[in-house]
Amino acid sequence: MNDETRKELKAWLEFYQELGIEGPYLRKPGNVGTHAVVEAAQTAPVAAVAPSKPIQPPAPKWAPTRPVAPPAVAKPAPPPAAAAIRPLAPAFNLFEAPPAPRSGPETLEQIRQDLGDCRRCKLAPTRKTIVFGVGDPHAALVFVGEGPGADEDEQGLPFVGRAGKLLNRIMQSVGLKREEVYICNVVKCRPPGNRTPEKDEIDSCSPFLYRQIESINPRLVCCLGAPAARTLLGIKEGITKVRGQFFNFGAAKALATVHPAYVLRNPREEKILREDFEKIRDFLSGA
Ligand code: URA
Repeated sequence: MNDETRKELKAWLEFYQELGIEGPYLRKPGNVGTHAVVEAAQTAPVAAVAPSKPIQPPAPKWAPTRPVAPPAVAKPAPPPAAAAIRPLAPAFNLFEAPPAPRSGPETLEQIRQDLGDCRRCKLAPTRKTIVFGVGDPHAALVFVGEGPGADEDEQGLPFVGRAGKLLNRIMQSVGLKREEVYICNVVKCRPPGNRTPEKDEIDSCSPFLYRQIESINPRLVCCLGAPAARTLLGIKEGITKVRGQFFNFGAAKALATVHPAYVLRNPREEKILREDFEKIRDFLSGA
């Protein structure tokens, strides 16, 4: 070691002592080099750390890898108000996809869109218009009839013919407004000659009816006539046997009554319809 190197080494040792490091040593002779690691130990021979090139200030092994603010001059915490308005970073895991936003129940518009220009059953070729349903999309009461007749097929709206006029009158008599309820049918296309809808037609169409009811989420579903009672409640008996009774229907209740068209053919039976509508009114008013 020449004088120059010795001087430089001495300066480094003093520098480390000023830092409070007792003395350097080399872990192994093999580690000797330009960037020899200096560790706290007194015993290592000074001559062993002789560098072969001009010495650069060594990076101490114990140095933290990221800057740490000195404790004495720690930054004051931000005022609570400032901290409060800072948006919280979501807990995000790179290995997990973020949860999909909740889509919520489907709307009647979405169901209508899905139905499209329906050709799912044999009623399609003879119908004029699909009669989807009408009324308050959040109604507490849903009426379900059998299927569109000639007037409904023409206008695209349910219960607008003679049976519809009677339905309006009975509703009015118990204080129900047409615009506050929802009205639809088991099938959305007119069966030829107003015949009763057939099983395959009901099977194709009723999933849309169920989705409509689920979307509306009513308190009460009123089945007008046997096809609606059979489809929604699985009732095998005649309508006159089960009419006026409340059934559980998911989270809602259901009640079956005679179809207004039946009352048009049997005017003396109007009192049955009226009686059942009074039950509906009482149910909805919580009486
Ligand atoms: N009868 C029904 O069952 N539905 C209508 O929409 C009209 C008459």
